[in-house]
Amino acid sequence: MTLSAFDPQPAPAGSVHPVQRHNASLSAKVTRKILVLGATSGIAEAVCRIWASQGAQLFLVARNPEKLAVVAADLKTRGAAYVGTAVADLDDTEKHAELLSHAVNSLTGMDVALLAHGILGDQARAEQDFQHAAQILHTNLVAPISLLTWLANYCVQRRAGLLAVLSSVAGDRGRKSNYLYGSSKAGLTAFLAGLRNRIDREGVTVMTIKPGPVKTAMTAGMRGSEKFADVDKVAQSIVTAVDKRVDTVYVPFQWAPIMWAVRSIPERIFKKLNL
Ligand SMILES: NC(=O)c1ccc[n+]([C@@H]2O[C@H](COP(=O)([O-])OP(=O)(O)OC[C@H]3O[C@@H](n4cnc5c(N)ncnc54)[C@H](OP(=O)(O)O)[C@@H]3O)[C@@H](O)[C@H]2O)c1
Repeated sequence: MTLSAFDPQPAPAGSVHPVQRHNASLSAKVTRKILVLGATSGIAEAVCRIWASQGAQLFLVARNPEKLAVVAADLKTRGAAYVGTAVADLDDTEKHAELLSHAVNSLTGMDVALLAHGILGDQARAEQDFQHAAQILHTNLVAPISLLTWLANYCVQRRAGLLAVLSSVAGDRGRKSNYLYGSSKAGLTAFLAGLRNRIDREGVTVMTIKPGPVKTAMTAGMRGSEKFADVDKVAQSIVTAVDKRVDTVYVPFQWAPIMWAVRSIPERIFKKLNL
């Protein structure tokens, strides 16, 4: 299916401009139509629990059918007005157009898309094995660019929509302990900044979410993980940021000054640090 299948109907005379109508629906928290890619991610699941309790209509995409069924059933019991699902490996960019078209048709529209899928990868392995490095870049950068290209054009056609994307503080400066993951997120952050610069004026919000370390499956077993941020608190900050339509949000917010300080360290010192 092509994008032309979604050509917006001309607004009747005297009707509310689509962008105004969209903003009103976001602030009133009425039944928003939300597409979630990587819906079994710990962070996405916690965000969806809040949206479900607000009565949102959700379409969930994940690659593991068993986990997806459990998440979908839980969100229905929490009050979601609608929960549609699709099983998909998001690395398969060839199928993105068909998948996204199916998702927005099932939702009969889309107000918000949350892109949450991602892999941490294994930095030590990626230093020796280019295929693994390429896999990290594909899942975290190439696949999101493919999804966002379709979603951005869909939203621009309607002059409405919010694209919320999970990048990371790791993209703010390369560190020896995770620079492959960090490069994928740095690329994603730069892509989002450029996309925002292109389509914000078209009434479409592009939101970059930069979490610090959060307690989810991705970080389980890491040294010090017991001190990582609580996923429900992170989810609440993301929901609030979506409601306010902010451009970039660090979660928890303390990561904004921390990363400012990290970025400010001169390279001659930074290169000697064990980070
Ligand atoms: N947790 C943190 O500390 C942290 C910090 C900064 C940024 N982030 C970012 O936040 C996002 C969510 O992370 P999380 O902490 O919620 O991690 P998580 O619980 O490990 O979730 C990652 C999700 O991505 C899915 N996924 C990976 N590759 C996929 C693919 N090819 N197709 C479809 N789904 C795929 C996984 O599916 P399976 O369950 O099937 O593997 C899983 O549901 C990620 O982009 C991550 O990079 C996390």
